[in-house]
Amino acid sequence: MNFAGSHILSVQQFQREDVELIFSIADRMAPYAHRRRVTRVLDGAILGSMFFEPSTRTRVSFGSAFNLLGGEVRETTGFEQSAIAKGESLYDTARVLSGYSDVIAMRHPATGSVAEFAAASRVPVINGGDGSNEHPSQALLDLYTIRAELATKRRSLDQLRIAMVGDLRFGRTVHSLCKLLSLFPGVRVVLVSPEALKMPPEIVDELRATEHQVLESDQLESSISNVDIVYSTRIQEERFSSQEEADLYRGKFRLNQSVYTHNCEPNTVIMHPLPRDSRENARELDDDLNENPNLAIFRQTDNGLLVRMALFAMILDVVDQVDRHARDVNWYTASRF
Ligand code: NCD
Repeated sequence: MNFAGSHILSVQQFQREDVELIFSIADRMAPYAHRRRVTRVLDGAILGSMFFEPSTRTRVSFGSAFNLLGGEVRETTGFEQSAIAKGESLYDTARVLSGYSDVIAMRHPATGSVAEFAAASRVPVINGGDGSNEHPSQALLDLYTIRAELATKRRSLDQLRIAMVGDLRFGRTVHSLCKLLSLFPGVRVVLVSPEALKMPPEIVDELRATEHQVLESDQLESSISNVDIVYSTRIQEERFSSQEEADLYRGKFRLNQSVYTHNCEPNTVIMHPLPRDSRENARELDDDLNENPNLAIFRQTDNGLLVRMALFAMILDVVDQVDRHARDVNWYTASRF
């Protein structure tokens, strides 16, 4: 696809070569994301960051990625702080805010809302999550992380074996990740969820149509025994009609060090889009895994910067200028990457 000036609304926009191009550009962002070099390539550009649902890492990493390319961020968070609370339509909001920004990153609780907003926007819009539908930049950073983790084992994405665990019905990250995986051959996906929280059938059908092996299960232990990746997810309680309903599923699948040791192959990679629910009655990914070297969750969040920088550079068509507007950093940088 041609990225310059394009909206990023769904992973279904991408072909395999688009994903590989994003990843190769993300690789080139490392010196900037890792604070060894500074670039001012987006000097003067403005990101409109509009998050109408709770967000920590997606919102901050979109903003940081833009800052790292030298651009500035204007943000609005929550409906109550915005004129949407006064009844303003998405159309009007998009017409207005696209006059103040060069690109917009947006999250909203309704499926299709970001696409509706984008249709009225005068600048490119990136979907930071629309309800339970999609979260394309998360799927890209997840796949980028999977690629990097497998590379340490001299493996490629082809023939990947992955278990996705938890709320597969409402989890937009796993929806986007499944769709993205269908671009790679021979993937085996094990979908582990309670019956009521199964992956939407149209996503499973799409994987099967592209000749991937898909298994569905409601048992954690037996499903994680021969996979490369376990991708755990939080019960999306904000999408249930009642708290009581969410309570039925919270804490149902708990991956901890003991479950890992007894069931997983050595060096199985553990992932989660975060936030993990660390409350006592949830703990889908236990803190006792924190020292496990195969826990990749913070490598995922770090990689989010690289992937989002790549997307901005591609959409604003500055990829080949990034290094020309660069210098070494002036300050002390801790070696945290
Ligand atoms: C996820 C989301 O918002 O969809 N978080 C994220 O963006 N990394 C997952 C979640 O909220 O459980």
